[in-house]
Parts: sequence; C-alpha cells; structure tokens
Amino acid sequence: MNQLVTRAVLRRLEAGWSCNRYVPTSSASVVKMSFDDSAAMWRGQGGFIGGAQWRRAVSTTAGEKDRKESAEAGKDPKGSGVAEKKKEDGGKMVVSSYWGVSRPKTTKEDGTEWPWNCFMPWETYRADVSIDLDKHHVPKTFLDKVAYWTVKILRMPTDLFFKRRYGCRAMMLETVAAVPGMVGGMLLHLRSLRKFQQSGGWIKALLEEAENERMHLMTMVELVQPVWYERLLVLTVQGVFFNGFFVLYLLSPKLAHRIVGYLEEEAIHSYTEYLKDIDNGQIENVPAPAISIDYWRLPKDATLKDVITVIRADEAHHRDVNHFASDIHSQGKELREAPAPLGYH
Ligand SMILES: [Fe+2]
Ligand SMILES: [Fe+2]
Repeated sequence: MNQLVTRAVLRRLEAGWSCNRYVPTSSASVVKMSFDDSAAMWRGQGGFIGGAQWRRAVSTTAGEKDRKESAEAGKDPKGSGVAEKKKEDGGKMVVSSYWGVSRPKTTKEDGTEWPWNCFMPWETYRADVSIDLDKHHVPKTFLDKVAYWTVKILRMPTDLFFKRRYGCRAMMLETVAAVPGMVGGMLLHLRSLRKFQQSGGWIKALLEEAENERMHLMTMVELVQPVWYERLLVLTVQGVFFNGFFVLYLLSPKLAHRIVGYLEEEAIHSYTEYLKDIDNGQIENVPAPAISIDYWRLPKDATLKDVITVIRADEAHHRDVNHFASDIHSQGKELREAPAPLGYH
C-alpha cells in the first residue's frame, strides 16, 4: 500500500516536472521550442541560478495551460461521449453541449487579445515601489519577541540550504508565503458566517494577499523549476505549514499576523540580496516573463531586475498589512473594527 502511494506521488511529481516549454519573446507573442532545443540553449548559457539541481525554465504561454485545463474540464465524466467539445477560433474556445460559460472577449490596451485566463486586466496594477523598505516593527511585547525569534530561527535552515541561490529560495518560499492569507481569509470567512457579522473587508484583503503571493510563485516558476525531490519538499512543507498556521491562527491571530509581518521583513531582505546579485552580475538579468509584464503592467522590455523590484515592493505592503492586523488584535479589538487595507499593493 505504502509502495503504491509512493509510486503515485513520484509519478505525479514526474508528470508535473515534464511540462511543455516555451520561450517568451514578449507578453503578446511566444515561440514554441522542443525540450532538446530549450535544454541546449540553457546549457549553453550556463544558467543564472547555479547549482545542478535547478534548471532554467522558460516561460509558458498564457492560454496554453488554461486551455488545457478548460479542455479537461469539458470532458464527459461518464465517458459516454455526450459532452461535445466544439473548438472554435483556432482551438481557443471549448464549448460543451451543456450550456457552458464563455468569457467576453477581453483585449489589452493595444487592442490585442488578453492572453491570460488566470487573471484579468482589471486585476493588474503598478506596484508602488516608493514604499519604505526599511520599516521594522520593533518587538516589544513577549508575543512580538516570540514571533521575531521564531522567524529568525526559521531563517537559519533556509540560509544553510539555499545560501545565495536566491531564485530557488524565492520560489520555494513563495510556495509557503501564499498560505497565511488563505488560512486567515478562510477562517475569517467562516467566522463571518458563524457570527452573522461583516468582516470589515479583511476576508478580501487577506485573500488578495494570498493571490498576490501566488502570482509571485507563478512568476518565479517561469524562471526556475524545481526537480522532483524539491517538489516533494514543497508538498511536505505545505502539509506541515498549512496545518501549523491553521492551528496558530485559531489560537492567536495576533501572533500569527505578527509572524507573517516578520516573515515579510525577511522576504524584503532576501529580494534585496537577490537584486544585489543581479547588479553585480552573479545572476543574469534575463527578460521578464510575459506573465509578470502583464500582471505588474511593466514595460515590454522589462527584465528580471524590474520583476524582483516590484515583488519586493509587494512584500513590503504585506509586511504593513500583517503588522497592522496584529496591532489591531494587540489593542483588544477584532479586525473587522478597523477598515481593511483593500487593494493595498
Ligand atoms: Fe511573495
Ligand atoms: Fe509577501
């Protein structure tokens, strides 16, 4: 039984690892390459991350993944052939014999078709990079100190494992960073239902944070891809962290938000070091992935440095939101008593 489970997990990891690879030329156009072509290209450049266990990944087209998912969703679950998949518009649209739901045609500012199904133009924004990156919440209370030292201790194995491989480090940590907002948002949602109370916007604010962190991951995964055992590590860490944070948030949302506040301070530090390595040439300043150009409304010729700069600004905003949330609890109040910082990027 255990062997069967292990084999299934390994097969799933392997399947996720061997995906199609594309090279972005701009946010609007992509060139498909074979695995051999792309592998040879990246081998020739030596890779910018360093470390044999990480491979350079190339950007995936927007619609390709989403279209595959849509096609899967359109399959007849009973296999009776009742569901008819009608492909139109060069295979971009899948219509089921059920009633289906089609998305209105969405275009970019330049009139070209919006290439993403995972986010829409109105969800994009320009990051406020003028935010103060050095702001630090000085730990005063016992709980603050617990939060601060918990994060410092958690950082030690991370430093030892990744050293200065900031691409790998960022990608792995983003798999964790998107969890607290989802857990907090979910628990506030349930609380709102249980107590017949408004949330003051905090459900949406925390889910916005989770989505923003997930977009960091979707961007980083275009630049760096983990091998199978790193995917296994992500599975393990997510299992432990989700459950641990869930229990912590139930017991003390004040401590949970403070810990996230300090984690975000560490994230700012890590991305600052990442930028230093780009500036001194240790990490190649490659073109920005197409998804990041559209999500942060970056110029078409944006580079990795621009992407890391806006991600770091996002982390600074998360830092502020979580320290603020913890401060509200510290004053003996509930989050809903203070208006949530919606859209605070
Ligand atoms: Fe992040
Ligand atoms: Fe963050």
